[in-house]
Amino acid sequence: MKALVLKELKKPYELENRDDPVPGPGEAVVSLKAAAFNRRDYWITQGMYPGIELPVIPGSDGAGIVKAIGEGVDETFLEREVIIDPGMDWGDDENVQSDRFHILGMPMDGTFAEQVVVPASQLHDKPDHLSWPEAAALPLAGVTGYRALFTQGKLQTGEHVLITGIGGGVATFALQYAIAAGATVTVTSSSEGKRNFAQKLGAVAGYDYRSDDWGKQLVAEHGAPDLIIDSAGGDGYRTLLEIAAPGGRIVNYGATAGPPGKLDLFKLFWKQLQLIGSTMGSPADFVSMLEFVKQHQIKPLIDRTVPLKDANENLEAMATSEQFGKLVLEIG
Ligand SMILES: NC(=O)c1ccc[n+]([C@@H]2O[C@H](COP(=O)([O-])OP(=O)(O)OC[C@H]3O[C@@H](n4cnc5c(N)ncnc54)[C@H](OP(=O)(O)O)[C@@H]3O)[C@@H](O)[C@H]2O)c1
Repeated sequence: MKALVLKELKKPYELENRDDPVPGPGEAVVSLKAAAFNRRDYWITQGMYPGIELPVIPGSDGAGIVKAIGEGVDETFLEREVIIDPGMDWGDDENVQSDRFHILGMPMDGTFAEQVVVPASQLHDKPDHLSWPEAAALPLAGVTGYRALFTQGKLQTGEHVLITGIGGGVATFALQYAIAAGATVTVTSSSEGKRNFAQKLGAVAGYDYRSDDWGKQLVAEHGAPDLIIDSAGGDGYRTLLEIAAPGGRIVNYGATAGPPGKLDLFKLFWKQLQLIGSTMGSPADFVSMLEFVKQHQIKPLIDRTVPLKDANENLEAMATSEQFGKLVLEIG
């Protein structure tokens, strides 16, 4: 099979011929139709991810057709059109993943290849309303947005939710889900084009997080948010504590802009705020996310799709965050 391999940090992926994977007991080989990028893939190329082991076939997201199964796997899996849950070994606790938790695409070889081998228990039927690129764009960011918004954020219909950095892959899913759930959604973005697009999708307003008074403006125009979904952190985190409604929740699943600046603990305790962490999602979150996506016929937004051999173009786009929606690889 053809596969992209990351051999050295800060170097492009190399396209190689590899032996086809062979399924072990409980495993299945998926012939991939499409794969998708996440920020994680970029962080790994830059050496900014814990426990990097190279060489590796990267890629956590993928969708395709089951072509081979190992011992103990039900034969009905063969020829099924599937998407892959990339979160492995979550464990038994719905509140937090186990210390065995790991993500497809490092250290395990991932989806930027013609085939991938995974435990059959990670496979779910591809939602019928999604194309192959759309299905591949869903898993990692889709489940992260779902858990952040619903499982951890406990979003209720009619609440005001602020989603920061709307150009992000997870943020875009959170926007689509929150609108489908009947919330009032405001967003931030550094890009006017992305703010306008978010409004076309149903957000009531967009603000530039680089301006000094965006938070005050948001509260004056739309009231204080009950729930804030953030993956930036950084100096701007202070503003989130200032503008959150009393009793509000702030859910974080990333720290793109680095550690938070000085936090005002007075704001935290006086307003009885809840700061909540969230990471990817449990198998139960994944199933609920798929049900929600099917029920509301949600389609992932795709910025661009390129053939496997041109994957390094997507990697370059990630460096500048110019995309809105997912960067996808078409395979086969
Ligand atoms: N914990 C988890 O399970 C998990 C899962 C997925 C991702 N993550 C993390 O979450 C973060 C986002 O990942 P992603 O793949 O969804 O997004 P992404 O596609 O990498 O996009 C990142 C976006 O962050 C926004 N941003 C940058 N600096 C910002 C700031 N100071 N304030 C607000 N927004 C800012 C930008 O939005 P604009 O272009 O709109 O300005 C940018 O487009 C990354 O740090 C990633 O590692 C964590």
